[in-house]
Amino acid sequence: MLRKFEEEVFVHYRTGVPEMDRQHWDVLQILVNVAECQNIESAVEQLDLFMTKWKAHLDDEEAYMKRLKFPFLVEHKKMHENLFSEYAQMKTTMRNDRFGDISLRNYAKSALKKVLDHIDHHDQQYAHWKP
Ligand SMILES: [Fe+2]
Ligand SMILES: [Fe+2]
Repeated sequence: MLRKFEEEVFVHYRTGVPEMDRQHWDVLQILVNVAECQNIESAVEQLDLFMTKWKAHLDDEEAYMKRLKFPFLVEHKKMHENLFSEYAQMKTTMRNDRFGDISLRNYAKSALKKVLDHIDHHDQQYAHWKP
């Protein structure tokens, strides 16, 4: 799934809001890189980079939803907070993974799935409010 994660997959996750789609694409590409890392340390670095970009995206997205007067902004923000905590937790788990029993590929897949599920189930909702 990771190598094949290209435009034809992403098209199903488009919100139709160009700036949000561009940001989603960018953060997803960083997660694809996690799977390519040679060791946990560099994977954690990539996840850090992802979290920085992801946070910036969440801020932009929340500002956009506010401009749209999206009625479920409070709930959506809460989901962003929860998701961010899950990534922080994942980073801790990765750092402590001394046995290598969970591969980098699995971490990357799990991180990717969280973003895709969020876009699919939640970000698609504000897309209905765009003018
Ligand atoms: Fe969102
Ligand atoms: Fe988003």
